Amino acid sequence: MNRVLSDPRAMRYWSTSAHSSLEETEGWLRAMIDAPPDQSNDFILEIGGRVVGKAGCWRLPEIGFILHPDYWGHGLAREALSAVIESTFARFPVQELTADVDPRNQACLRLLRHLGFRETGRAGRTWFVNNEWADSIYLALQR
Ligand SMILES: CC(C)(COP(=O)(O)OP(=O)(O)OC[C@H]1O[C@@H](n2cnc3c(N)ncnc32)[C@H](O)[C@@H]1OP(=O)(O)O)[C@@H](O)C(=O)NCCC(=O)NCCS
Repeated sequence: MNRVLSDPRAMRYWSTSAHSSLEETEGWLRAMIDAPPDQSNDFILEIGGRVVGKAGCWRLPEIGFILHPDYWGHGLAREALSAVIESTFARFPVQELTADVDPRNQACLRLLRHLGFRETGRAGRTWFVNNEWADSIYLALQR
């Protein structure tokens, strides 16, 4: 997973800067593993035994996903998120899934809109990452 989370292209609009050490990624994985099972539905994505990203809810109902750039543009995120959405609504009593997206992240916005997410609001200067402020578009998908 460190190969994904240390890639500046993949991390351009993430809520933290790219990981600079294996320890940082170990801490991230530890938080994923330790997340309370009744509040989490998160998955590591593998292709042919190789870790290529993650998709799911670390804390319900917010969804998060990232893929290594070598795997972008093949419909993998759409496939993974479709499965996450189905499994989350089947297993948890949540009425909606939510997302918080940087307005510049067109790939993510288009993907979520394709999956049925609709904008619910916007806010300015919500994240301070890599010495710059970023804004948020909030989206939601109803059950
Ligand atoms: C967002 C991300 C997961 C998309 O992964 P992907 O596997 O390439 O996406 P898919 O191939 O499943 O594409 C599904 C749809 O997303 C949109 N999309 C994907 N990449 C896009 C791009 N570079 N520009 C515009 N739209 C794009 C398209 O609408 C596409 O549908 P289409 O094929 O009908 O045009 C990937 O770009 C990524 O990991 N980005 C960095 C991490 C990130 O920003 N995560 C989201 C944080 S909220």
